[in-house]
Amino acid sequence: MTIILPATDETIRQAAATLGSGGLVAFPTETVYGLGADAESARAVAALFAAKGRPPDHPVIVHLGDESQLDQWASEVPAAARSLAAKFWPGPLTMVLRRSGRASDLVTGGLDTVGLRVPGHPVAQQLLRKFGGAIAAPSANRFGRVSPTTAAHVLDELDGLVDVILDGGPCQVGLESTIVDLTSGQPRILRPGGITEEQTAEVLGGQQAAATSMAPRVSGNLKSHYAPRACVELVPADELEQRASSINSSGLRVAVFAGTGEAGRFDSRVVLLPVPQDPREYARQLYVLLRQADAEGCDLILATLPEGDGIAAAIADRLRKAAGPRDRPLAENNG
Ligand code: TXA
Ligand code: MG
Repeated sequence: MTIILPATDETIRQAAATLGSGGLVAFPTETVYGLGADAESARAVAALFAAKGRPPDHPVIVHLGDESQLDQWASEVPAAARSLAAKFWPGPLTMVLRRSGRASDLVTGGLDTVGLRVPGHPVAQQLLRKFGGAIAAPSANRFGRVSPTTAAHVLDELDGLVDVILDGGPCQVGLESTIVDLTSGQPRILRPGGITEEQTAEVLGGQQAAATSMAPRVSGNLKSHYAPRACVELVPADELEQRASSINSSGLRVAVFAGTGEAGRFDSRVVLLPVPQDPREYARQLYVLLRQADAEGCDLILATLPEGDGIAAAIADRLRKAAGPRDRPLAENNG
């Protein structure tokens, strides 16, 4: 049985007790909702992988209450990691570091590294404080699917599979944390996210490696990750109209990512997904819009990649992945 509770002192205490007894708790972070388990309980982490339908060789992020716990979970903390922590924690940044003995094979997927993050959301902070330990938490969706940015989305994904969902309202960032690998001499972004490449470069200076699109062992790098049920096709802005009408005439139901004022451009059968002008707001809405297309029974979503760096690069990354080839049926690839 899954219960949704509005996050209050009392319900957060209750959720911390659930974690303490090996249960699963979904909770809001500033990026997306996480599916949390006691990071030091093998049984709880195994239950977490089962609930998500996630393969066991995929590492999960360990969430810490504050920076002082860094050395308990990482065995080597380079100066660059300390600078990033000082600047961006609590916040939407995950650092991959050499693991300590405390990080088990279960949370690291057998790697000798561990992903660590101190989330900034007040509910996540309070939950970590009341629980006292570290919380292993992937995004609270079934493996391969769109991350949830509201408590209702979590329920859609995990009803019956999670004990408690703490409702802290919609997430402020709307996309997952930025992941920086600090295990080699040259810090490298594995996943663009809430903290931009420009922001980390400001702290790391010339040390930071150029962003690459392929990085190993990050499930977000599977081609069809972050995918709604509907297929996603990337189309240049000036071809949206034509492509939408040709799909419509083939009898499929199509949704289009377009500006709010642009409804008139499209056939009335097209489902318009209104894209906010402001990139930060767009990031906040991206997963909501992808879910909306599914809720409206669309077969195909047409979207244009946003231009520019900063958070727009993270939006483009998620759209590319949503549009990636689906070599396995989604039912098997739900992560
Ligand atoms: O914003 C976020 O990061 C959210 C919230 C809940 O914190 N969490 C999240 O977790 O997105 P998840 O599991 O959905 O994605 C975490 C990514 C995965 O792609 C995983 O492979 C990668 O982090 N990861 C974790 N530990 C790693 C490690 N040691 N080395 C490389 N990648 C790692
Ligand atoms: Mg995820």
